[in-house]
Amino acid sequence: MVHKSEISNSSLLETKNIESYYGPIMALKGVSLKVKQGQIVTVLGANGAGKTTLLKNISGVMVPEKGNILHYKDNIQGFDTDKLVQKGISHVPEGREIFPLLSVEQNLNLGAFTRKNGSDIRKDLDVVFSYFPILKSRLAQQANTLSGGEQQMLAIGRGLMSRPSIMLLDEPSLGLSPILVKEIFSILRKLNKEQKLTILLVEQNAKAALDLADYGYVMELGRIVLDGNSTDLKNSKDIQEFYLGAKEESQLTQRRWKNRKTWR
Ligand SMILES: Nc1ncnc2c1ncn2[C@@H]1O[C@H](COP(=O)(O)OP(=O)(O)OP(=O)(O)O)[C@@H](O)[C@H]1O
Ligand SMILES: [Mg+2]
Repeated sequence: MVHKSEISNSSLLETKNIESYYGPIMALKGVSLKVKQGQIVTVLGANGAGKTTLLKNISGVMVPEKGNILHYKDNIQGFDTDKLVQKGISHVPEGREIFPLLSVEQNLNLGAFTRKNGSDIRKDLDVVFSYFPILKSRLAQQANTLSGGEQQMLAIGRGLMSRPSIMLLDEPSLGLSPILVKEIFSILRKLNKEQKLTILLVEQNAKAALDLADYGYVMELGRIVLDGNSTDLKNSKDIQEFYLGAKEESQLTQRRWKNRKTWR
């Protein structure tokens, strides 16, 4: 269900020095990162670091003031969101943003809004159900009556319905129990392997994100302050201090960067 481009090794997505503002507030101060085809890349960072703003710039919700966003060799900054969806860039926003009063089925069909071929769409629905069987059993249910975990599954399922080559995920773990985070992250891993879905994952749950990702970036106050292979990042002293700061094992799984005021 995913575009399988022949291009390998080059970046599927790249941001070059992007700067972005909310009125006078500079939220991104020159952010550069690369996501290669087939990779899972994570962007970590505390509250207000600029992670959501970064994804909004990539998906066309915001237009960067400066810098470039490349999809393979094409400059895509400033493109309409619809056009970017057609290019295979799917954004699963922070807080899920499903249509609360519509059914599961209607939400999924809206994910395929850029597409015309009905039989292809039905095939893709079956693919979504193979990863999220719960959605099939809840097709007629109003989306706002789903549990938080089910809503996240619906948001990802809806994102898959546009046949993306890359999915931008904004804090899918937010508000979910550790078991559900595990379940959803293992589905993301399967989608990456089996559907060749490239993933750019924004997270505060550093442990879950680094366990899943191949490569990671750390953002602080609108800048990338650290990047590396996930294994190296997990071993880095800064990262360990940041999320292994608690003494008791039991606290570690609970600890969220949102609770911390500063990033060290
Ligand atoms: N609509 C807005 N208007 C003005 N400032 C904003 C707006 N949205 C975000 N900001 C500011 O931009 C900065 C980056 O915010 P952003 O939402 O990108 O952070 P984040 O890393 O996603 O944080 P979180 O982990 O809490 O979701 C913050 O200082 C925030 O206050
Ligand atoms: Mg955010």
